[in-house]
Amino acid sequence: MDLKDQIDKKNLPQHIAVIMDGNGRWAQKKGNQRIFGHKNGVKAVRDTVEGAAELGINFLTLYAFSTENWNRPKQEVNALMSLLITSINSETDTLIKNNVRLLTIGNIDGLPKNVTAKLKGLINQTANNTGLTLVLALNYSARWEIVNAVKEIIAENRQNPIDVDSINNEFFERYLNTKDIPDPDLLIRTSGEYRISNFLIWQMAYSELYFTEVLWPDFRRNDLYEAIVDYQKRERRFGKISEQIKK
Ligand code: IPE
Ligand code: IPE
Ligand code: MG
Repeated sequence: MDLKDQIDKKNLPQHIAVIMDGNGRWAQKKGNQRIFGHKNGVKAVRDTVEGAAELGINFLTLYAFSTENWNRPKQEVNALMSLLITSINSETDTLIKNNVRLLTIGNIDGLPKNVTAKLKGLINQTANNTGLTLVLALNYSARWEIVNAVKEIIAENRQNPIDVDSINNEFFERYLNTKDIPDPDLLIRTSGEYRISNFLIWQMAYSELYFTEVLWPDFRRNDLYEAIVDYQKRERRFGKISEQIKK
């Protein structure tokens, strides 16, 4: 039976988040520059987005550039920024064709101006699409997001002190970049690295984690299916015991 046919359509993860890792190693293995890996990573993005949209996944978040990634060699950072522009240009039609709505998380205004403008343009263009919501994490890190939330809470409430008893998870989440996005049910990280790298640490409190050795440029929708099939074999207990879940 095809992997895709093994997926239970009634138990799909509502939100899948992906740490797309291994572009540099993929290129170096082939004797190429790291940027060759990033370019080929775009094909993996396209296939994964199409695969997720076709399955009926509601939210797909892709970690594309972390705040720590600014510390890479300047040449690589510049190449990644140019690649963002060319990818937005080349993928716009596919996104629209697949009824995908684009959102971003991260400090978008801290990206080069032409990148910010392109992204905002595409967010507007796809705002009324009703299929998959594709969330690009760009200039994102979870600690930045949490500190930023605290800053916003204080700035917004300068005039009227907040009632401490009104602060709870729901209150705090309204100040996160992901305020209208459900928590990820499934996190996928490629390239055989077993860490979170400052990604969605608040939101992943109860996500199922899936790690694969596949390097990101080789990742295709079949690898996505494999992760979903694995996810569907798990029992999510949220602190309860098995018997309570099965009822
Ligand atoms: C992921 O691939 C892409 C980004 C972080 C932008 P890497 O560039 O981290 O590839 P490796 O981990 O060095 O192989
Ligand atoms: C995480 O990958 C960030 C992105 C995928 C954008 P990295 O390759 O930067 O992660 P570390 O630094 O190896 O943990
Ligand atoms: Mg990496």
